[in-house]
Amino acid sequence: MQTDPGGAPRRGPGPPERRVIAAISAPDLPPTCGCEERMRDVVIHVCTTCKREGDDPALPRPGAELAQALAQRPAPCMRVTPVACLGNCKRSCSVALSAPGCWTYVFGDLGPGSAQDVLAAAALLQTSTDGLMAWRGRPEPFKRGMIARIPPLEPLQDAAE
Ligand code: FES
Repeated sequence: MQTDPGGAPRRGPGPPERRVIAAISAPDLPPTCGCEERMRDVVIHVCTTCKREGDDPALPRPGAELAQALAQRPAPCMRVTPVACLGNCKRSCSVALSAPGCWTYVFGDLGPGSAQDVLAAAALLQTSTDGLMAWRGRPEPFKRGMIARIPPLEPLQDAAE
């Protein structure tokens, strides 16, 4: 059994990042969006109920406006899915970016005008080679506004196998 430097038994086959690399290096992830592109699918969950304190309740919610702006800019192999609340209400607007074999990222502090930045961040996840969203190239709001990252669901393989 492998042990950590302190002598405690190591749980699992290695650091998570190393295992993720093996999981997503499987050849040719099949596209499921139906387009001709051969890119990894990315799902952009957008909270449509996000609002800010003091917002006029008669006006459309900023989260709904962001979802609408994204829907008007279709990108290959990216699917925009509206949801009601991502549990990040105090730092709205909120989005979650998910892709097969990748970590899922939740971001906040966005606004109705953030569509281009959301797509740029989604593209980083789409082209990731290690399942992580690259820091370099992230739009500024996606450096400051990360709320959480969640490991992939897929069973992970050890890179040493
Ligand atoms: S209302 Fe948008 S995260 Fe809760």
